[in-house]
Amino acid sequence: MADSITIFGIAGSIRGNSFNRAVLRSARILVPDGTELDVFDDLAEVPPFNEDNEQSPPHVVSDMKARIRRADAVLFVTPEYNYSVPGVLKNAIDWASRPYGDSAWEGKPTAIMSASPGFIGGVRAQHHLRQSLVFLDMHPLNRPEVIITNAGAHFDHDGTLIDPASRESIRRLLSSLVTWTRRLQGVPAAA
Ligand SMILES: Cc1cc2nc3c(=O)[nH]c(=O)nc-3n(C[C@H](O)[C@H](O)[C@H](O)COP(=O)(O)O)c2cc1C
Repeated sequence: MADSITIFGIAGSIRGNSFNRAVLRSARILVPDGTELDVFDDLAEVPPFNEDNEQSPPHVVSDMKARIRRADAVLFVTPEYNYSVPGVLKNAIDWASRPYGDSAWEGKPTAIMSASPGFIGGVRAQHHLRQSLVFLDMHPLNRPEVIITNAGAHFDHDGTLIDPASRESIRRLLSSLVTWTRRLQGVPAAA
């Protein structure tokens, strides 16, 4: 077995009771053995991207970039805003992709999950996000997909994801992401 895997996790919401942040928190305990999920929880502190400042980004951005670089893979958990990715998440993606030639995302295996109170579960935001990941030369996992619809019904009062089917689908995605990561690193899969 290769060394442990670290996944950098980022949710595209800064809302206190965010479903997507709750999904990311739950993912922390659903990762396979030997895997650490490093949850980035400072999205609210990331200022609007300004190309004038990209050569000397604020500390929160350089810290985010260092943590992405340290990670073997990246997990995005995104809400859907107007059929796309929330601006706060796109803003963080833009910061970490700059300056030109110094993107922290380059070459990282990645996976996407989404949760929405609606009945489509954020799938259109996933599709939009995937386009950006291709341009960033990341390696998105195709399947399994995690699309949590009717999100309000799946969490308890403390914001813990309690739906067994959703938890199982997250577990499977995380396991596949680790396998995908090892494959891209050239580590043979366990027999
Ligand atoms: C500006 C805005 C646009 C939204 N657009 C969509 C949408 O296109 N599709 C959808 O399923 N939900 C949409 N919603 C509802 C969000 O899915 C819902 O607010 C969700 O709880 C946000 O994720 P969070 O709980 O992680 O903060 C929108 C919400 C806002 C505030």
